[in-house]
Amino acid sequence: MSSPVVFPFKSNIDLDRNSNRHLYLQLCDQMIGFIKSGKLAPSSKLPGSRKLSEDLDIHRKTVVAAYDELISQGWIESIPARGTFVSQDLPIVNPKKLQSFSNTSSTKNIAGFNFKKRKHLIRKGIETPHTTIKIDDGVPDHRLAPIEDITKIYRNIIKKTHNRELLTYGDIYGNIDLRKALVFYLNQTRGLKITIDNILITRGSQMGIYLASQLLLNDKKTIITGNTNYMTADDTFTEAGGIIKRAYVDAQGIKTDEIETICKRQSISAVYVTSHHHHPTTVTLSAERRMHLLDLAQRYKFAIIEDDYDYDFHYSNAPILPLTSNDTDGNVIYIGGFTKIIAPALRIGYFIAPKEVVDEAARLRRILDRQGDTLLEQTLARMINNGDVQRHSNKVRRIYKARRDLFCRLLQKQLGGFFDFEIPKGGMAVWVQLKKPYHWDSVIALSQKQNLVFINDWKRYDNDNSGHNGFRIGFAKFNEEEIVEVIDTLEIVFESISKSNPVF
Ligand SMILES: Cc1ncc(COP(=O)(O)O)c(C=O)c1O
Repeated sequence: MSSPVVFPFKSNIDLDRNSNRHLYLQLCDQMIGFIKSGKLAPSSKLPGSRKLSEDLDIHRKTVVAAYDELISQGWIESIPARGTFVSQDLPIVNPKKLQSFSNTSSTKNIAGFNFKKRKHLIRKGIETPHTTIKIDDGVPDHRLAPIEDITKIYRNIIKKTHNRELLTYGDIYGNIDLRKALVFYLNQTRGLKITIDNILITRGSQMGIYLASQLLLNDKKTIITGNTNYMTADDTFTEAGGIIKRAYVDAQGIKTDEIETICKRQSISAVYVTSHHHHPTTVTLSAERRMHLLDLAQRYKFAIIEDDYDYDFHYSNAPILPLTSNDTDGNVIYIGGFTKIIAPALRIGYFIAPKEVVDEAARLRRILDRQGDTLLEQTLARMINNGDVQRHSNKVRRIYKARRDLFCRLLQKQLGGFFDFEIPKGGMAVWVQLKKPYHWDSVIALSQKQNLVFINDWKRYDNDNSGHNGFRIGFAKFNEEEIVEVIDTLEIVFESISKSNPVF
């Protein structure tokens, strides 16, 4: 193995001292590029570290670090008393222009292989600068998350040697202490009668919806949802292979007589309900319809997927107990979680169902995401057991109620001429209907000019093209000052709409 150093490193290596990428890694990237392109052939001798550092005007340690990295990756080898060489057994890739390798960290956009692209999952992305006011469909204020409590408990847990066990592979059903804590918590707060066998811990409610649809909807099985519905749930059902049929949603929630009519005509596998506060219109499913739905599920043998995503936020009276608390026939899959009470990024939720369904869902979850974050789950178990979660939930409920009141008061006062809406009894959003002939397209376009962006596509709220002109506006994540700013900005938008079109 020998060939003199002929490659002109000095003129070909271009290191960017302002880049975030460390100099030794830039040197590695470029050397690998030369080797792959065939510019540096197998067995070529490389300059010594002192020489190369002088040529490139960099510290010798940087070259040594780059060579060490290339040796560990197998691109080059060091032969005692002889020097450093490009490895002999590397496959040569077709020579390409050196320039194309000068920035090997550049992102590739096009795959060199075929894969399934799901057009129905594409959402219009909107570029939003940091300063923009973003209108979402009701998310919690992450600034209220009890970070001190979480970090203190998390640290205490991880510090104890015996808890290191939590770092290894764990139970596919989720952390046992959290499941035990949930038995107590859910039975007490929601009137459930479950044991740990009925609980699978998920990463938020969305994973529960996904698992339920995979269990129920393959092969074009039918699911009934509201004619307005939570968009991501619709996407999840379609993705699972289900066919969605719609039943009308009015002030009492989803119309169960329409569900019954469909059941008489065809077999259905599931009904999806957000019974506490319908998403998006926020109405609560009436007691009569709850009983009717449970009766239908038992008679027609379908599953009810009850997504109770915002159970903890009911402001006028005590929350209504979920359907599942009255389910004596094993027809309900109950889905919920802590992302709304604590913070969306702390992904802990639960999937509650008859044991055999939980077992199957756990096996399915295993191949999607081996297990959840056991340490975080243990932390949450402690926070439930010592009452932190309940205290925090009471605190944020009071804050969101005050925000709802302010938001709705200002909405009525400053924009009442443009919108119809009911004050929601709970949740984190208001369902507003733009009075005709105003149109969301112009509201959205003009709002953007005022630095206010609606992040959801309003058309997606109208699944069956009924032209209801409704939109769900989240208020919970805005503090008082921000609420005033949102409403004032919308007022400016509507003033300009009215002026530019005096017909309105
Ligand atoms: C109706 C509904 N279900 C489920 C979810 C998903 O919640 P998670 O963040 O717990 O997955 C959301 C999120 O906004 C929601 O609005």
